[in-house]
Amino acid sequence: MDDLVYLDNAATSFPKPETVYTFMDQFYRRFGVNPGRSGFDLCVEAGDILEGTRRSLADFFGGRDPNRLVFGYNSTDALNLAIYGLLEEGDHALSTTLEHNSVLRPLYHLSEDWAVDVDYVPFDERGFVDPDDFKARFRDNTRLVVVNHASNVIGTVQPVKEIGRLCKERGVPFLIDASQTAGKIPIDIRELDVDVVAFTGHKSLLGPTGIGGLYVEEGVEIRHTRAGGTGVRSAVRRHLDEYPWRLEYGTTNVLGVAGLSAGLLWLQEKGLDEIHRHEMELVTKLRDGLRDMEGVTVYCQDDLTDHIAVLVFNVEGVEATNTGTMLDVEHGVACRTGLHCAPLVHEGIGTTGIHGAARFGVGPFNTAADVDRALDGVREIAANREAFAIRQ
Ligand SMILES: Cc1ncc(COP(=O)(O)O)c(C=O)c1O
Repeated sequence: MDDLVYLDNAATSFPKPETVYTFMDQFYRRFGVNPGRSGFDLCVEAGDILEGTRRSLADFFGGRDPNRLVFGYNSTDALNLAIYGLLEEGDHALSTTLEHNSVLRPLYHLSEDWAVDVDYVPFDERGFVDPDDFKARFRDNTRLVVVNHASNVIGTVQPVKEIGRLCKERGVPFLIDASQTAGKIPIDIRELDVDVVAFTGHKSLLGPTGIGGLYVEEGVEIRHTRAGGTGVRSAVRRHLDEYPWRLEYGTTNVLGVAGLSAGLLWLQEKGLDEIHRHEMELVTKLRDGLRDMEGVTVYCQDDLTDHIAVLVFNVEGVEATNTGTMLDVEHGVACRTGLHCAPLVHEGIGTTGIHGAARFGVGPFNTAADVDRALDGVREIAANREAFAIRQ
């Protein structure tokens, strides 16, 4: 089907604003050299885009020191840098059952390899963690609290300000996974008492894949767990401690940075509030439509306050993967099915045994007509669910 309705924006945003494509093309043709490594003009200009974007992103997250904005490949990379660089053998960490595998798996590895003890705070039936549940779980050796700012499954935005305050009182570094929120809702790390924010460029920041990073607040020192080229002070044998080099290794994805800078500019011109309002209007229409259908269950969407435009649902008796395939093949609607790399969320909403759910992720370019097509598709699947049911 030519006119695909793309509702998989929680996986990656698509399409990107036109300016992202054009700027990346122009930038790479004119300035695609290795920034910060030499003194010739092109190199300086490539460096300007890198440093300018560092400044814009630091500012976007409410950070004061652009050098503490470090670029990596994506959230997974950034979260690994932060988690491995903050925890040591025998430490205790606090996290939640809302996490993506990019937090869960590093923590599982550390539990097995370095005897790091981790407590996972569960979410309630509405899809939120309670800050008081953290309070009770702090220990003398708690060295990190890491929380998914908004669930990539049920879309709930967590009370990070309250959790941040608790961490601050105890002097424990607080890391948020902003993969789903950066570019969707404002994030001011100082207002939220967040110490480290991990972001990915290809979702709501509207950049390309392969670029992401961290902002690290002053006073929080992440150990470098890798070493390599920095382009400066090459005779020094150990990897540099100064930011940004401390957490940047090898040639930066400068093409990705260029695309990300164009995405960020587009977002700032449109305004996050306006984009969020548009997306929430569409996801509310989706939620209402799905809720009214017989045989369809929507999870944690009763009250859409403190939500982003992501929702999961199931058609009674039908495998989510089959729902996804029918939506795609019969209706030209793209969504994401399964466990969404967040197995504990599916345990929490009771969908593990039925292989997960189908997810719609709304983006800035979706329209009310897209929602209508998606609803028509699910309505047809639900009306014929007995014929499609293969679950026991
Ligand atoms: C909450 C959350 N964390 C982390 C990630 C990982 O992002 P990336 O694949 O860009 O590393 C995702 C992406 O699906 C996500 O939704």
